[in-house]
Amino acid sequence: MSRRWSLAVAGVAATYLLLVGLVVVVLLDLLLCEAAAEIESTNSTVRDSEIYVVVIEGDPVVNYNGSLPGLVATAEFYSHAWRAHHHSSNVKDAIQKYKNYLSEKQDQLLKAFFKSQEYTKLYSYHHLLNGFAVKLTAKQAELLEKTTGVIAIQKSYKVKKTTVHTPEYLGLVQGIWEEEGGPEKAGEDMIIGIVDTGIDPTHPSFAASGGHGGQQHMLYTPLPNFRGICEVAEEFPRGSCNGKIIGARHFAAAAIEGGAFNASLQFASPLDGDGHGSHTASTAAGNHGVPVIVDGVFYGNASGVAPRARIAVYKALYRMIGGFIPDVVAACDQAVADGVDILSLSLGPNSPPGASSSTFLNILDLALLNAVKANVLVVQAAGNGGPYEKSMTSFSPWVVSVAAGVDDRSYPNTITLSDQTVLPGIALAPPTRGDRLYGMVLANDAVMGETNALYTPSDCQEPSLFDPALVHNRLLVCTYSFNFIFGGSTMQQVVNTVRALGGAGFIMVVESDIAGSKFDPIPLPIPAIVLTVTSDSQVLLGFYDKYTEKDAHGKPILFGAEVKIGDGQIARCSGQAQQVALFSSRGPDVADFQFDNADVLKPNIMAPGYLIWAAWSPLAIDNLNYMGQRWAMISGTSMATPHVAGLAALLKAKNPLWSPAALASAMMTTADILDRNGKPLLAQQLSGGTTPLLEPATPFDMGSGALNINAALNPGIVFDAEHGDYIGFLCASEGVRAWQVNAFTGGVCPRVAQRAADLNMPSITLANLTGIRVIPRTVTNVANHPENYTISWTDPADVVVAINPTTFSIGIGSQKTQVITFTLRATRISSFVSFGNIMFKGSLGHTVHIPISVINKQL
Ligand SMILES: *[C@@H]1O[C@H](CO)[C@@H](O)[C@H](O)[C@H]1NC(C)=O
Ligand SMILES: *[C@@H]1O[C@H](CO)[C@@H](O)[C@H](O)[C@H]1NC(C)=O
Ligand SMILES: *[C@@H]1O[C@H](CO)[C@@H](O)[C@H](O)[C@H]1NC(C)=O
Ligand SMILES: *[C@@H]1O[C@H](CO)[C@@H](O)[C@H](O)[C@H]1NC(C)=O
Ligand SMILES: *[C@@H]1O[C@H](CO)[C@@H](O)[C@H](O)[C@H]1NC(C)=O
Ligand SMILES: *[C@@H]1O[C@H](CO)[C@@H](O)[C@H](O)[C@H]1NC(C)=O
Repeated sequence: MSRRWSLAVAGVAATYLLLVGLVVVVLLDLLLCEAAAEIESTNSTVRDSEIYVVVIEGDPVVNYNGSLPGLVATAEFYSHAWRAHHHSSNVKDAIQKYKNYLSEKQDQLLKAFFKSQEYTKLYSYHHLLNGFAVKLTAKQAELLEKTTGVIAIQKSYKVKKTTVHTPEYLGLVQGIWEEEGGPEKAGEDMIIGIVDTGIDPTHPSFAASGGHGGQQHMLYTPLPNFRGICEVAEEFPRGSCNGKIIGARHFAAAAIEGGAFNASLQFASPLDGDGHGSHTASTAAGNHGVPVIVDGVFYGNASGVAPRARIAVYKALYRMIGGFIPDVVAACDQAVADGVDILSLSLGPNSPPGASSSTFLNILDLALLNAVKANVLVVQAAGNGGPYEKSMTSFSPWVVSVAAGVDDRSYPNTITLSDQTVLPGIALAPPTRGDRLYGMVLANDAVMGETNALYTPSDCQEPSLFDPALVHNRLLVCTYSFNFIFGGSTMQQVVNTVRALGGAGFIMVVESDIAGSKFDPIPLPIPAIVLTVTSDSQVLLGFYDKYTEKDAHGKPILFGAEVKIGDGQIARCSGQAQQVALFSSRGPDVADFQFDNADVLKPNIMAPGYLIWAAWSPLAIDNLNYMGQRWAMISGTSMATPHVAGLAALLKAKNPLWSPAALASAMMTTADILDRNGKPLLAQQLSGGTTPLLEPATPFDMGSGALNINAALNPGIVFDAEHGDYIGFLCASEGVRAWQVNAFTGGVCPRVAQRAADLNMPSITLANLTGIRVIPRTVTNVANHPENYTISWTDPADVVVAINPTTFSIGIGSQKTQVITFTLRATRISSFVSFGNIMFKGSLGHTVHIPISVINKQL
């Protein structure tokens, strides 16, 4: 299997040169695996076994329809109508009985397979999948796959946090809560399940009082419908679940079996030792109005998007090691069993998981399909593989895949030279004291005695290299070299050096713009600035040379170059519209492991994901810039995802009966595609230089557009879909067989095949338009009054679109839906991607839009 994979990937490498960066990584991974597998296959000991997720016949809990004697149907308990009864003892009893039945069947199958041999079963999955995680040798896996009753088997693969190491700020959303009764109510009683690195229960964002200084009326009351539990451990004591945090568990069996887990490093409890889980949880549902303070500096108040929603924590990612898919699936299985409303996944596979012919049939996506069936909206990070095309690590139409946007906030600063030259730079650092100038001393000029080969003096990492008398009360000039990016040099150590020598602060210059572009504006407790542009650095160094007198041996004797540094801790908002972040993964979506294009739009929506301030764990050790801090400003599609999860909670609190597809549609169709001046939003692309190129953003960059919170709360019409529609989609997907769909989902393929593109998504995506295609969509009125709509549109290049009808009246009750057909005709053969847009304008002010994407056109 892995061999086929690497061939497929190599084929792609030839075709998609742009993907080179991504493919090389994938290939390296694969070659290592393959080499290891070959060596091991000659010696079959238990040591060779690996973890597999195995799916077997029999409906999981969310699908079970009551066809077995003595076992009550459980599927309906997850429908809207039943959710309120979820906590009743009859329901619990029925679920437990069916779970026990499934466990028994699983064990029977395993016992029969292993005969008298021992085996290690790591997890039993019941809710989303009927299956288990078990250790198998490659040979055993091959045999088990052919065993009667086994539907699918997939080797464990790793997933990672989708953060990038560039800091970011929180796009604090203003005025979004009015409709929900203010921040005291927004998202009330919704439960957001966070599958991540755990949580810091002592963080003020998660305080039981709900912010606002702990007023009594803000206390969180118990939610009887939630069935989750809270693990207790020494480092996660009783009381950690406080009403805001209502459930907390950890899933580490696969990490432990993988030999990567060390309880004193990763914590065998829901405690967040990484920071990432606290960050994402607080972005989605952190309390309102919690001051962000780092090193005594106030950076503003933080709030989750749904400040009154509750948080259920499912820890399945671990600091330093990331996560393993059997743990992640177990976490999702439990979250749905517990009754979360929304599942937020700021994680993705390291590369597309290669176990099946279709991306949509990978184990995680199948589990998530059933989560959606159980009325849980699933939001997942798009991935950080951008700006290369086809770099998505979130694939399926039942999942909302979130791209990361760069918002308009920045922390600009300047340094003023005594000759009045002003140079730009950054660093979240205080200004030099008083309204006076300070002398500069170059690190290399302040070196005392012999230099130690271990350290480059210009990195300013080692105080003992320098003469304190020369640095005292001056600004030390250091170089932001690649040692700060790939080596062990840190800004914190520069601070320590300057403090040890009694310096007034420091200035970082760069030797290359590339190094400068990798600098994140991180909080520093002493006056400092980083000149991120080489030419500015040269101006500063020229100024230093001009005013520094040296003796005959080149030793400086008079430091006449004087400067002052401004305040770098003040955020400026340019008013500029959100841009798609360079690192944000791009479409088109891939249908299979030949990297064929899918008839599905990915990503789906963009939310702020660059320099986002949110909660951090003081125990975190992976990010040197925020060691010991309670707040961090970081970037990634990981950070964008919980914004969407939070908004979904607001929407669902307002519209408890909306399906996951309706919630997703409301967010997508109301997303912004234009800036305030009516110009298209822009996407960062590679430029060859350090400042990214900006090009009009396409649906393959940002999906439907930038999340517009206010508009999403009132869409007027939605594109709804239910489980059966996803089954129809799977049946129609290339490389997916009807028996697979039936085996995996229990669903039966319709006699008259639909086409994948016919799935009622709020987008139209065709990977290969041959001649004419007619694509239906159904809109559902979710406003409580009739409305007249008019459709207008723009054709993609080389395609003519006809729409019927172009105006319609939509009612309420039995009249609340309208079918519309879109006829797309290729007018010219072409293989470049082209995009169009369809607008629905209602007579009562509602406006929604859906993007069209067409890749190949044949006549
Ligand atoms: C298999 O590996 C074990 C442990 O590494 C070693 O002791 C044994 O000799 C090997 N057997 C064969 C057939 O290579
Ligand atoms: C219930 O599910 C079983 C197995 O998936 C199927 O054979 C049966 O037809 C279903 N019955 C109903 C009433 O849907
Ligand atoms: C686990 O980590 C601790 C702390 O770093 C270390 O002392 C210990 O040796 C580690 N244990 C194992 C089994 O690696
Ligand atoms: C931050 O929140 C506090 C209450 O927690 C409030 O008093 C203060 O005015 C807020 N500051 C800003 C800048 O919004
Ligand atoms: C598109 O479809 C046509 C007709 O089915 C086929 O000949 C062609 O190879 C397809 N192109 C791609 C790129 O899949
Ligand atoms: C819709 O159009 C009809 C016919 O023109 C008109 O009578 C009706 O008032 C309109 N309804 C709304 C809600 O605009």
